[in-house]
Amino acid sequence: MNTELRGLRACLPIVLCFAATGCFLGACGAEDLLADDTFTMLYNSDTFQMCKGCHAPGATGVRAGVEATQDWSTRDRAFSTLQGNASGLIGNFAGCNGVPLVGNTPETSLLVAAFDEDIRLGFSLSAHPNCTPEAISDMTADVGQLSATELSLLKQFVNEEASGQ
Ligand code: HEC
Repeated sequence: MNTELRGLRACLPIVLCFAATGCFLGACGAEDLLADDTFTMLYNSDTFQMCKGCHAPGATGVRAGVEATQDWSTRDRAFSTLQGNASGLIGNFAGCNGVPLVGNTPETSLLVAAFDEDIRLGFSLSAHPNCTPEAISDMTADVGQLSATELSLLKQFVNEEASGQ
């Protein structure tokens, strides 16, 4: 085999690797290839590290009426429990039991409505007429406003889930 061909063989796996990730040097920097996925960045953010104080089995903040499907104790538990529907809500908030935490868009996601006032005020699902804006708790009362980065990661996560990425 001549040297040129051998060189080509050596670099083929690298080319394939870039092809598989859908990007090439220049189109996306090496840091994108190494970066954490969206949900990991969201989970590790200052605000979302607070969720496990109440939304986790045995958490110190657990009390009657805490949304009980979410378990933020680890990144993977949070990711998998967010595929479920809200449960355990009582009183004014009971109308949102059974509503998917993550819907097809940020506008139809209870998880986003609990943090974004505009989305909360416009929240309306025909399958869940009792989950009105008044029935959705404002979680920023517990954890403070999300930073712009946290809010955009939250919406990006929902969009990625909806598109099956
Ligand atoms: C201090 C305790 C506490 C913390 C911290 C907390 N929550 Fe909650 N969460 C609650 C309670 C209690 C409810 C039920 C509604 C209510 O009583 O406000 C709830 C409800 C929810 C709901 C359902 C909203 C609804 O009314 O239908 C979502 C979604 C939610 N929380 C997400 C989160 C996320 C994500 C975090 C972290 C960023 C978080 N919460 C942090 C206590 C907490």
